[in-house]
Amino acid sequence: MAVLPILHHPDPRLRKKTPPVQQFDQKLQRLIDDMFETMYAAPGVGLAANQVGVQLRLSVMDCSEHHDQPIVMINPEVLGAEERQEMEEGCLSLPDIRDKVQRYNKIRLRALDRNGQPYELEAEGLMAQCVQHEIDHLDGKLYIDYLSSLKRERIKKKLLKAAAGD
Ligand code: NI
Repeated sequence: MAVLPILHHPDPRLRKKTPPVQQFDQKLQRLIDDMFETMYAAPGVGLAANQVGVQLRLSVMDCSEHHDQPIVMINPEVLGAEERQEMEEGCLSLPDIRDKVQRYNKIRLRALDRNGQPYELEAEGLMAQCVQHEIDHLDGKLYIDYLSSLKRERIKKKLLKAAAGD
């Protein structure tokens, strides 16, 4: 397994809508293992394939307290959502930045696991927030898209300055 470099905003690869996964081969299994290792090392609770430069509709997540409940979400579809509320959010592609956005507190989805087997999931709270955040990534969106253009501009400047200082 390997820790992969995570792309930071405003990298254009974060802005593409990802195509569905079709091949459940060894290469995909290895990518999933590397994505988990990268996410846990960061540390983070979710990571989308396009954040490590791979254009596939695939995210890994683990919102558990002890980091022992890994979830693979492939080709997800939202079946229902309720209880819209404001939640604080961060993202590995926007280091050292957090802000409040509107999310659903409950969400129901259908997705495929790492072997291509379909499953349904009902998520609440942090897990529901994480699912929405990851599906946004797979659609080429970032949570800052919900903020004002003034705030977005400020964040972009901050990240470009940090990248120049690397
Ligand atoms: Ni993110």
